[in-house]
Amino acid sequence: MAGDAKILEPTEAAINLVADALLRGEIVALPTETVYGLAAIISNEDALQKIFAAKRRPSWDPLIVHVLNLSALRDLVEVEGNLFHKLRLLSEAFCPGPLTFVLKKKKNVANVISAGKKTIAIRIPAHSVFREVLKKTGPLAAPSANPFGYISPTCAAHVYQSLGNEISYILDGGPCEVGLESTILDLSVQPLMILRPGVITVAMIENILGEKIKPYHPLVSADPSAPGMLKQHYSPRTRLRLFRKSIKEIIDNFPEYSMEDIAIVYLSSKEAHASGEVEHGLKENVFWFSEEGDLHEVARNMFAILQQLDGMQFHLICCQIPEAEHMGIAVIDRLSRAAAKF
Ligand code: TXA
Ligand code: MG
Repeated sequence: MAGDAKILEPTEAAINLVADALLRGEIVALPTETVYGLAAIISNEDALQKIFAAKRRPSWDPLIVHVLNLSALRDLVEVEGNLFHKLRLLSEAFCPGPLTFVLKKKKNVANVISAGKKTIAIRIPAHSVFREVLKKTGPLAAPSANPFGYISPTCAAHVYQSLGNEISYILDGGPCEVGLESTILDLSVQPLMILRPGVITVAMIENILGEKIKPYHPLVSADPSAPGMLKQHYSPRTRLRLFRKSIKEIIDNFPEYSMEDIAIVYLSSKEAHASGEVEHGLKENVFWFSEEGDLHEVARNMFAILQQLDGMQFHLICCQIPEAEHMGIAVIDRLSRAAAKF
């Protein structure tokens, strides 16, 4: 439902306006390279509570904090010796960028951010607009700017559609470059462990650290230690099913739908055409996440295409999934959670 939020081009004046609103304790939507975030300054508990209210996010679900650089990060966490060495290696390789660290928090970090845990999730975002705001405000807590459980927003219009009534400003930084939320790496445990897969993969991290890390285990439990880990998340309203090679099995399970009710999304235009469905009169129902099947392009487009199809006449969306390797793991993770609701 659209509301009164203003979508602002990221001029210097708009950045100042938004930074002032944040410093007064308002919440605003900002672009990051992964997905849009709903931001508040971390020193104002009322502002942080507004994030939970606007997203209808349960209070047990902790927030990610965004900082400008490693030194600002170090102000908020307890990290010494060997662990700091690892953090420095990782940040040299991947920051600013889509990698979030879970680390033991300093005592002065508000409990509302960590939802009572001893750790916080913290990252150094790359988007230039977000960084300009950070320079004026200091660290910002920012979960994805969507109602709890719904698809993450990858452009300003998505935020407007779902949270337009809850906030005053959305800074428009264009479509998100990455399109999937950051990889979350828990550095507070041994061995280090992936809590949420993303475009920065296990292999990339192991390569930098020269040590084994515990890969992500899909849908491990209902343990809300990273509620990205909850089974159902990122869901469109329309029923969603996944397939690897052919949609036939899915369709056989839903005799109540005719072909006009069903959207089919392939990984690439090549796969779509190879299926024969485009040529067989189903043109209006067939879509693809990328031209060539490049997984970075799939990730960039995926949430936007789901949002678009969710607003159309379809009763069932069938999405093709990639092989479960490298960043295919993150793509499958988001799609299978989105499908888990139904
Ligand atoms: O790319 C991203 O990370 C985006 C952009 C806006 O930065 N943010 C994002 O935030 O995806 P959010 O809140 O939608 O997802 C953060 C996830 C949640 O599943 C949360 O439970 C988990 O991180 N998390 C936060 N603090 C944690 C902690 N201390 N330990 C484990 N998981 C944590
Ligand atoms: Mg989220």
